[in-house]
Amino acid sequence: MLTINLGIIGGGTVGGGVYQALKKNGSLMASRLSVRFRIAGIAVRNPRKKRLPHIPQSLLTKDWKSLVQNPKVNLVVELMGGTTTARTVVLEALKLGKSVVTANKALICEHGEELFSASEKYGANIYYEAAVAGGIPIIKVLRESFSGNRVQSIHGILNGTCNYMLCQMRESGLDFKTALQQATDLGYAEADPTLDVDGYDALHKICILASLAHGHWIDSSKTHVEGIRNILPLDVHFAQSLGYSVKLLGVVKTTSIEKKGIRPRIQVAVHPTLIPLDHVLASVNGVFNAVYLKGDRVGDSLLYGEGAGANATASAILSDLGDAALDHAFGSHRRVPPFVPHSESGSILPQSETVSPFYLRLSVVDRPGTLAKIAAILAESEIGISSVMQPEGHEGKSVPLIMMIHDAREASMNQALKKISRLKVIKAPPVLYRVENFID
Ligand SMILES: NC(=O)c1ccc[n+]([C@@H]2O[C@H](COP(=O)([O-])OP(=O)(O)OC[C@H]3O[C@@H](n4cnc5c(N)ncnc54)[C@H](OP(=O)(O)O)[C@@H]3O)[C@@H](O)[C@H]2O)c1
Repeated sequence: MLTINLGIIGGGTVGGGVYQALKKNGSLMASRLSVRFRIAGIAVRNPRKKRLPHIPQSLLTKDWKSLVQNPKVNLVVELMGGTTTARTVVLEALKLGKSVVTANKALICEHGEELFSASEKYGANIYYEAAVAGGIPIIKVLRESFSGNRVQSIHGILNGTCNYMLCQMRESGLDFKTALQQATDLGYAEADPTLDVDGYDALHKICILASLAHGHWIDSSKTHVEGIRNILPLDVHFAQSLGYSVKLLGVVKTTSIEKKGIRPRIQVAVHPTLIPLDHVLASVNGVFNAVYLKGDRVGDSLLYGEGAGANATASAILSDLGDAALDHAFGSHRRVPPFVPHSESGSILPQSETVSPFYLRLSVVDRPGTLAKIAAILAESEIGISSVMQPEGHEGKSVPLIMMIHDAREASMNQALKKISRLKVIKAPPVLYRVENFID
C-alpha cells in the first residue's frame, strides 16, 4: 500500500468537498488502487473561520508556502482559485518536482503554457480534470479516450448558473434579473456573477477543450464571448414557438478539412445559441452541464453531469489524485503530459468569417412595405430568409418581426443590420442570435 501525502491549498467549497470525499471514499480508493491518501495540511486564509464540513484545526494553516515545501508532501492540490497567488503556488510546487492537481480553469486557461513548460522542465505533472465541467470526465476523454480521433466539433453547456437561468426564463417567463436573483438565492450563482453571466467562465472551459482537441494553446483573450445578460424572456419564448431552445454554448468547430497542406480553420466561441428542441442538448436542464462531441472515428458522443458543486468537483479531483498516485508509484510522472502540442493544429477563424443560420428580431412599425424594405437590404448582402413570423398580440407603436435567416457570414449579417437599423421603420436595435442545427 502506497501512501501519498497531500498538501491542499484551499479549504472552501471544493477543498471542503475533497476533505469529505477522502473521508468517505478514501478506503474505497485504497482498496481499488492500493494507494492511501493522507492529508498533511490544508492552507486557508483564515483558519478560525467556521467551516462546513468541519475540518480539524490541527490540519489548517495560513502558511501555504511551508505546506508546499514540507518534504513529506508529495502531491500539491491547488483549490484556492484566482490566477495570482495560485500561479505562484503551482510554480513553487513544480520547481520542487511535486505534481499538482488543480480545479482552477482561469489559471489553466490564462497561464497554461507557462505552467506546462515548467511541469516539463521540472519533471512533474499537472492534473486538471476538475477545471472543466466539474464531475464530467471530459479532460480524460479528450487526452486519452479520444486520442485516436480528430475532433470535428464540441458543443458544451459549460455553465450551470446560466443554464439554470435560461431554463427559468423559458419555463416561468422570468426576466434576467429575477432569474439571477433566484440562482443566487439557491447558491448557484457567485456573489459576483459576472464571470458566469457574461460567458467568461464558459470561455475558460471551452478554450481548454479547444486547445486539447486541436493541439495548440488557444488565447482566450482573442476568443469571441457573449453572455446571457441581454437575453429577454420574449426571445426565449419566440425561439420556443419556432422549435428552438436558447442555450449558452461553448463551440469548437473545424471549418474545413485539412487538404494539400492547408490546415483546417478552427472556430472557437461562447455565445447564446438557438438549438432544435429535439436535440439532446436541449434536454439538459437546470444546473447540469453537457459536452456533445463529434470525432471522425467515434461519431457523436455525449457526456452529461453535474458541472460544479463540492461533490461533483471532488469526484474529478479524486480521479486526478488516483492518476497522480499511480504515476508516482510507477515512476511515470509524465505518462500523460498535461498538454501536448501536435501537428493537427490549425489557425483560428475570426468570428466575423464564421457562417451560421441566425434568429433575427426587429422592432418595426406595423406598416405595409416594411418587410419589403428589410428583405431588400438582406438580399443585397445575399442573405436568405427561411421564415418570417409576426406574432399577434403585440400591437402598439412597434411590433416584433422575427426572421429566421439561412446560413450567412457573420460580417455580411452585421453589415446588413447596420443598414436595416438606419431605416425609419426600425424602432429598437436589432436582436441577433446564432442558430445551431447540428447538420454538418
Ligand atoms: N465551487 C465550485 O463548484 C467549483 C467547481 C469547479 C472548479 N472550481 C474551482 O475550484 C477553485 C476553488 O473554488 P471554491 O469554490 O472552492 O472557492 P472558495 O470556496 O472561495 O475557496 C477558496 C479557498 O482558498 C483559500 N484561500 C484563498 N486565498 C488563500 C491564500 N492566499 N492562502 C491560503 N488559502 C487561501 C480560502 O480560505 P478561507 O476559507 O479561509 O477564505 C478558501 O478556503 C477555483 O479555482 C474554482 O474555479 C470550483
